[in-house]
Amino acid sequence: MVAQEKASRPGCAVATAEVTPDKLCRVEDQSEIWEQALALGRVIWAKLGSHCGCKRQLLTLYYKIRASLRHTGDGSMQPQIIGISGSPIANSNTDRLVQAILAASGLPSEFVKLSEINVGPCRACLGCRSDNICKVDDDFPALAAKVRGAGALVVGGHATYGTMNGFTKLFLERLFSLRHREGLNRGKLAVAVATGNGRGRPGLEAASEQIAHSLAWEGMEVLGTLQITGNPKCLVCGYGSTCPMSALPRVFGPDNTEVTPDKFCQVEDQTETWEKAQALGREIGARLAN
Ligand SMILES: Cc1cc2nc3c(=O)[nH]c(=O)nc-3n(C[C@H](O)[C@H](O)[C@H](O)COP(=O)(O)O)c2cc1C
Repeated sequence: MVAQEKASRPGCAVATAEVTPDKLCRVEDQSEIWEQALALGRVIWAKLGSHCGCKRQLLTLYYKIRASLRHTGDGSMQPQIIGISGSPIANSNTDRLVQAILAASGLPSEFVKLSEINVGPCRACLGCRSDNICKVDDDFPALAAKVRGAGALVVGGHATYGTMNGFTKLFLERLFSLRHREGLNRGKLAVAVATGNGRGRPGLEAASEQIAHSLAWEGMEVLGTLQITGNPKCLVCGYGSTCPMSALPRVFGPDNTEVTPDKFCQVEDQTETWEKAQALGREIGARLAN
């Protein structure tokens, strides 16, 4: 009887012994409290008036606290750092450098290869307007929930036609749903990784700038941008030496189009980039541990 009474009281989970997911509470889901907290934050913000220095400090603190809220509420640990690779090439240089940063961080992590899931473009439908949850029926909403809970993001892509490639661009566009009004990625740590033909060929610089720029636009603190010299697909298509449209003469010179082992690049051999990646991973690990 007493147990039943307790069970009927809202918010009371004592009465039934069975531990089920519906008994676990997340403060973020308690919309009234959450909205009140946000409103209080806005009042403090407004009352601070002209004390710009204080405002900035308070805001930084707020973003840091929010970025560190990484528990799912069901007791399991969400990945604190997420690595996203927009490279569709299997086990690509891009993938391996992103994974190296995750490993160096020592944090619970998850690596996502965009070409293996289904993430389309932002449709500008504003379905996310009231709750920052994208309503497009693909794999992004599930990925967004993970991104939302993480404190750091590593995004890698490769250059195509002088810009970041499509998979990477689509993912970055979709971050809009987390951005709208709340700026849910503000204060997170980020690293941008880009791969291209390198050797002075256009595209690599632009792709890495575009990725870094998108992350910074979301209010993330971009700790570094890493550029990898990758492998033109013309090296492996079988026609690279003879095709009139081949990238090989442009990349290696008109008299050097033969496919030879020395033309293939591994990011692990690009010592400066590889070491910078390790250092960035460690920095993220240390920053998120504090
Ligand atoms: C459709 C297409 C267009 C490309 N355009 C460029 C380009 O404009 N600039 C560039 O540096 N590399 C370009 N590349 C080369 C890729 O960036 C290269 O495949 C990449 O470096 C390989 O990545 P990975 O080493 O991670 O496998 C292009 C590749 C493809 C498939």
